[in-house]
Amino acid sequence: MQVAIDGPASAGKSTVAKIVAGKLSFVYIDTGAMYRACTLIARNHGLAYSDEAGILKAIDQDGIVLEPGENGQKVLVAGEDVSLEIRTPEITANVSEVSALPGVRAKMVELQRELAGSTDVIMDGRDIGTTVLPNADVKIFLVASARSRAERRMLDWQQKGIEAKQTVEEIEADIAKRDYLDSHREVSPLQKADDAIEIDSTNLTIDQVVDAILAEIAKKR
Ligand code: C5P
Repeated sequence: MQVAIDGPASAGKSTVAKIVAGKLSFVYIDTGAMYRACTLIARNHGLAYSDEAGILKAIDQDGIVLEPGENGQKVLVAGEDVSLEIRTPEITANVSEVSALPGVRAKMVELQRELAGSTDVIMDGRDIGTTVLPNADVKIFLVASARSRAERRMLDWQQKGIEAKQTVEEIEADIAKRDYLDSHREVSPLQKADDAIEIDSTNLTIDQVVDAILAEIAKKR
């Protein structure tokens, strides 16, 4: 069984996908982490984020490996665990430029399909239902208002003891900018697949979203 979860930034896709994967013993794949790893590689090699040929070469040199980890998934670049490093504001601010490069997307989509293989999988991203797994059994498009996504991000930082360097308004503006770039790129923009089920989590708890997704999966099993 293949489950695709797409949607805008910070809608809670990875949180619910991890829980669903745990409950059903599915493999969880966070594709955003892969584009973040590409962005980190570009930075580490001192490359411009628009340098497609250079970034592709550097990805081949370093290698991106996904492994199951305590927190769902671990990302290795050149053999080093970079799971935390790919979440810094610097990487977040530049990932949309790197992920818009057609060659980078082609490489990541190939890797994503390989990883999905023939096992039960739940994959989250922006183009899973439209491009990566167009025949997925269940497609979810998870949305929430930009304001509530920004508030959740702030709360998440507070709970993790991370000092917030931005106001909620600034977080909301960053989220909106990333959504705009991801929705307006040429190749595989963020888009709801025709056959995806839209869930608006603005007024739902995590458990309610998880239950809604489990119910959709149960219909197909
Ligand atoms: O999911 P996350 O917010 O970590 O994704 C980071 C970025 O990676 C997105 O803003 C988008 O630019 C890119 N991405 C993508 N396609 C995917 C997953 C993520 O372009 N399937």
